[in-house]
Amino acid sequence: MSRTVYLNGQYLPEEEASVSIFDRGFVMGDAVYEVTSVLGGKILEFDGHVARLNRSLAELEIVCDISREEWLEIHREMIKRNDLDEGMIYLQVSRGNAGDRDFHYPPAGTPPTVVLYTQSKPGLADDPKVQKGISVISVPDLRWHRRDIKTVQLLYASMVKMAAEKAGKQDAWFVEDGFVTEGSSNNVYIVKDGKIITRQLSNDILHGITRASLLKYAAEAQMEIVERPFTIAEAQAADEAFFTSASAFVMPVVEVDGVALGSGKPGPVSLRLREIYLDESLKAAI
Ligand code: PDD
Repeated sequence: MSRTVYLNGQYLPEEEASVSIFDRGFVMGDAVYEVTSVLGGKILEFDGHVARLNRSLAELEIVCDISREEWLEIHREMIKRNDLDEGMIYLQVSRGNAGDRDFHYPPAGTPPTVVLYTQSKPGLADDPKVQKGISVISVPDLRWHRRDIKTVQLLYASMVKMAAEKAGKQDAWFVEDGFVTEGSSNNVYIVKDGKIITRQLSNDILHGITRASLLKYAAEAQMEIVERPFTIAEAQAADEAFFTSASAFVMPVVEVDGVALGSGKPGPVSLRLREIYLDESLKAAI
């Protein structure tokens, strides 16, 4: 069945939605995006995603004057028109159609290109991978140094996901200057002696919306959190590991570069945090 997508103020069948070949998103990777989960027809972490979108847009000086209320209305309309119960909403804003290829930004007033579409994923919150946990490889972090901006420049993330798949694993962790930055599309954590260790926020990583809520819920549950970088060797010697993202929530990691962590099974802290995260974020869903 064809989806109804959103393009620049219009709701259209996906076959009828098209964007210029001169669009900055297409030619220059000059666009930012958000991925937001929907469970039971409700939007998770809506305000966090809108706040980060506005920050990404501001950092790149892309002008898009859609208000929070308008974004909410568009998201709800997308859910309704696509009868979305469980899945994701993908949102992208590019600097718009520049009319030609040019390194310089198009003139002020060029409208941005705004696209939203839904991805239906029945069973999103019951991913069978949670029971087994996932295995990861490490790769050098060769991305640019503004990873705090959620741009569509995802080629390297794509390449390392393919490298992981070739190695028979499910994901890759980036390593820079000897320390893990983040996962290919997620924030990463290790658990040692009950402490949750995760890299502190900076331009080196995306400021995960799931991360922010998870750390808040963990603190409320009296869990100890240490925000600092860690190495692959430290991860391999940890009791547990996991990652967070809008689409996977909290996912246990049981193997890093061929070394099983702890019992080699998803750990109790990771599973408990997943439960807390899903409970709390569903309660706050709108
Ligand atoms: N990725 N780090 C990177 C590099 C990411 O791409 C993502 C999200 C995260 C986690 O952020 P959040 O918790 O806000 O989803 C961290 C999305 C899900 C994606 O590209 O599909």
